[in-house]
Amino acid sequence: MAATNLKILILHGPNLNLTGFREPDLYGKIPLEDVDEQIQNEAQKLGIEIRILQSNHEGVLIDAIQENRRWASGIVINPGGLTHYSISLRDALVSVRLPVVEVHLSNVHAREEFRRHSVIAPISVGQVVGFGGYGYVMALHSMINLVQEVV
Ligand code: DQA
Repeated sequence: MAATNLKILILHGPNLNLTGFREPDLYGKIPLEDVDEQIQNEAQKLGIEIRILQSNHEGVLIDAIQENRRWASGIVINPGGLTHYSISLRDALVSVRLPVVEVHLSNVHAREEFRRHSVIAPISVGQVVGFGGYGYVMALHSMINLVQEVV
């Protein structure tokens, strides 16, 4: 499956830089750099262009969404804790009118009650949860399928 001209912005939110170290039973033992490498390799295989950014700051993520609005064909985002309350992040995603796939390393639906609620989910095409870093690879495939269906 090769998708020409597909450009995906991949965003990791707060604390995801500690993936591999932080609560490994929940988030896995693989460092974020290795997850990113796996995403890069898959993107190359699929023939798509990606940009990856991790930030602990809501505003930096919002800036990246706005700045890439003309470049990107879609956004894959793990908003971390912002998932559960950031109306500003949600507004930014809505504003740029790009398809969004929400990713979570852990199965948020099998955890605390407050993690079951996402303000991002209603404006996303779908969620990939509980598959660790491989969820981003799944999200890339979903995005290709989605964009190709639209064209
Ligand atoms: C997370 C789930 C969130 O609830 C949490 O705040 C995170 C990580 C995940 O990838 O499973 O920081 O987004």
